[in-house]
Amino acid sequence: MDWRIEALTVARGDDAATLFRTIFPQPWERPWSPAEFTALLATPGCFGHVLVDGGDDRPCGLILVRVAADEAEILTIGVAPELRRRGGAARLLERALVECTARGVRALYLDVADDNEPARRFYARRGFSEVGARPSYYARGAAPAVAARVMRRDLWRDA
Ligand SMILES: CC(C)(COP(=O)(O)OP(=O)(O)OC[C@H]1O[C@@H](n2cnc3c(N)ncnc32)[C@H](O)[C@@H]1OP(=O)(O)O)[C@@H](O)C(=O)NCCC(=O)NCCS
Repeated sequence: MDWRIEALTVARGDDAATLFRTIFPQPWERPWSPAEFTALLATPGCFGHVLVDGGDDRPCGLILVRVAADEAEILTIGVAPELRRRGGAARLLERALVECTARGVRALYLDVADDNEPARRFYARRGFSEVGARPSYYARGAAPAVAARVMRRDLWRDA
């Protein structure tokens, strides 16, 4: 794939919000607004990257991370549905890991829904281990809420 990674700057809140709606179309997902992305990206410790399709210069994936002291959390990650399973999310994650390491992060955390099999497989393959759970964490409309799995990847091995 002809992809490149660019910084997700405060000025790209609109791009990020549009992409987010494409990545998370399920009716129970609350879309993040451009203002929410802008505010998050202006928060100390937050950074993000977008995956851009070199063919048409279209943003087609994103990752947003928040660093606090020597720990960090993936706030969101995703790739446009038609471009999945081509290594796009792996590229975004690897770029974020480089940035985390440069900022002195020792452990990277995330929450993933119990019923999100693609994401759980992705994280397991990328070295994350389950370290906890939050019962009934994600709303599913009229269906019962599902648990979140808390996963962690230690970064000291990457140093
Ligand atoms: C999870 C997600 C980010 C993975 O993105 P991606 O670009 O497809 O991931 P990559 O191509 O880098 O990695 C693919 C690997 O992840 C795992 N994987 C991804 N989707 C999978 C699926 N549908 N079934 C099984 N394994 C899957 C596999 O290990 C796969 O490797 P393989 O293709 O060699 O079998 C993507 O499915 C997505 O955007 N989902 C919607 C948003 C989301 O759920 N984000 C996570 C919130 S916690």
